[in-house]
Amino acid sequence: MPIVSITRIVKFNAAHRVYNPSFSDEENKRLFGKCNNPNWHGHNYALEITVEGEVDPGTGFVVNLADVKRIAEREIVDAVDHKNLNLDVPFMSGTIPSTENLVLACWRVLAPQLAPARLAKLKLWETDNQYVEYDGR
Ligand code: NI
Repeated sequence: MPIVSITRIVKFNAAHRVYNPSFSDEENKRLFGKCNNPNWHGHNYALEITVEGEVDPGTGFVVNLADVKRIAEREIVDAVDHKNLNLDVPFMSGTIPSTENLVLACWRVLAPQLAPARLAKLKLWETDNQYVEYDGR
């Protein structure tokens, strides 16, 4: 059977400060630049959620995208939108809120909720010019 992937996009904005408390202020500033601003700053994020599988002959769908939308809004958007990733988001607690760590956290939260649909890839845009991708490896 052919495998088809399908993608739903959710958007949110969130504040953060990227820093490692075990580094000096100078080292944090050098490493993380503007994202190290002590008084926070925000990004408009977009998360592309790609699910894959065989096409169900009864529906013509790989997955009902309404379910993907509902789960993504409940598990991700409600948790992070208009929040501070350093302070307000339990699944980011204790991690440096880089885009890389955020995409890993989104995977851990989403993958089990989407089952039996198979989460194939997450692509997380932090700005118009950069994104990270994760496929579960
Ligand atoms: Ni930033």
